[in-house]
Amino acid sequence: MKRTHRLLSIVLASLSWSCAALASDKPAAPTLRQAAGDRMLIGAALMSNQLDDPRRAKFIAEQFNSLTAENEMKPDQLQRERGKFTFENADKIVDFADKHGMTVIGHTLVWHNQSPAWMYTDEKTKQPLSREAALENMRGHIHGVMNHYKGRVKGWDVVNEAIGDSEPYLRDTPALKAIGDDFVIKAFQFAREADPEAELYYNDYNIEANYKRPKALRLLKELKDAGVKVDGVGIQGHWLIDNSNAKEIEEGIKAYADLGLKVMITEMDVDPLPRRQGGGADLSATEREGLDPYKNGLPDDVQQKLAARYRDLFATFLKYPQITRVTLWGTDDGHSWLNGFPVRGRTNHPLLFDRDLKPKPALEAVIQTLQTGTSQTGAKR
Ligand code: G3I
Repeated sequence: MKRTHRLLSIVLASLSWSCAALASDKPAAPTLRQAAGDRMLIGAALMSNQLDDPRRAKFIAEQFNSLTAENEMKPDQLQRERGKFTFENADKIVDFADKHGMTVIGHTLVWHNQSPAWMYTDEKTKQPLSREAALENMRGHIHGVMNHYKGRVKGWDVVNEAIGDSEPYLRDTPALKAIGDDFVIKAFQFAREADPEAELYYNDYNIEANYKRPKALRLLKELKDAGVKVDGVGIQGHWLIDNSNAKEIEEGIKAYADLGLKVMITEMDVDPLPRRQGGGADLSATEREGLDPYKNGLPDDVQQKLAARYRDLFATFLKYPQITRVTLWGTDDGHSWLNGFPVRGRTNHPLLFDRDLKPKPALEAVIQTLQTGTSQTGAKR
């Protein structure tokens, strides 16, 4: 009996070995980071507490070569109280990136959201501060943050979402009220002063769209006419699964590329869930309720549709050497703001990895496109 038993275990062992041998011959699928190579930065937005989980930290360092703080570099996180900077959480992300040879993008120095009231508004009277007082606060914040990260952050979203959707031009914000129409110009001037080596970007959503693009082009022209050097434009890329705006996206990319600027897709996600409104990140466009059809996972036909959308978008990006970075707005479906927007508490699937960090068909589509695209264009990031 014993002899047959030993024979059996030998046979089984050799069988599993040969399977392993066979499996190991099949080259492991390249990671997103490997597929992007040095053609472009491929990044993700995250919160520093995501790095506490070793498995997740390993996944992030393997798949991405660039990181953006989803919230922890915003004004209300770095200087909630005037003159008191709190860099701890953001430093964790930058230290991790340094350790794993990843590039950090700073998001964001001037924004109407997630900014402490004292920066542009008199907290007693609730009236806008004087131009001088508001400029001093803006300059103090920009210098305080950029000095702290000098040489460790490749580029900054200096101003985020200053252009209005319904307004004829600039969005009505506390900074606009206190400083005036040139607040964007002043912000870029302060940023250039603070760190002449850092790249400086204007970042916004839907600026590829026909209704908003002319306003963004006007702003970029005004910055240029004011002698302000802008290094790049960030198209956030909060898009929907239907590809009705594919042509508009390409025309938008081309319009900014033709200005000789770097063009970056800075907050990419593709929403497969139904919405009443279009894409973008107009936070006032919340919806009280909405269908939540994929609580138990994305059906295969929708997975394939999502993969096709990501494939087409990346194929477009690779046609433009000016596109130097694509950042996904989240590391995986479980860490996406779209689980809470525009309807709270839905189960969304807008990214390349599922909640178990498993690759989705969309990831394969992006990797294949990157592999073919990078061999053709040969452009550098
Ligand atoms: O930190 C507080 C926590 O203390 C509190 O317990 C919790 C409960 O409400 O809220 C936490 O703050 C949340 C913060 O994210 C950090 O998680 C805010 O409520 C929540 O509104 C905030 O959402 C962020 C949103 O910007 C705010 O505007 C999203 O995570 C972030 O993905 C999103 O990112 C923006 C980009 O910066 C700019 N473009 C659009 C994009 C999507 O809105």
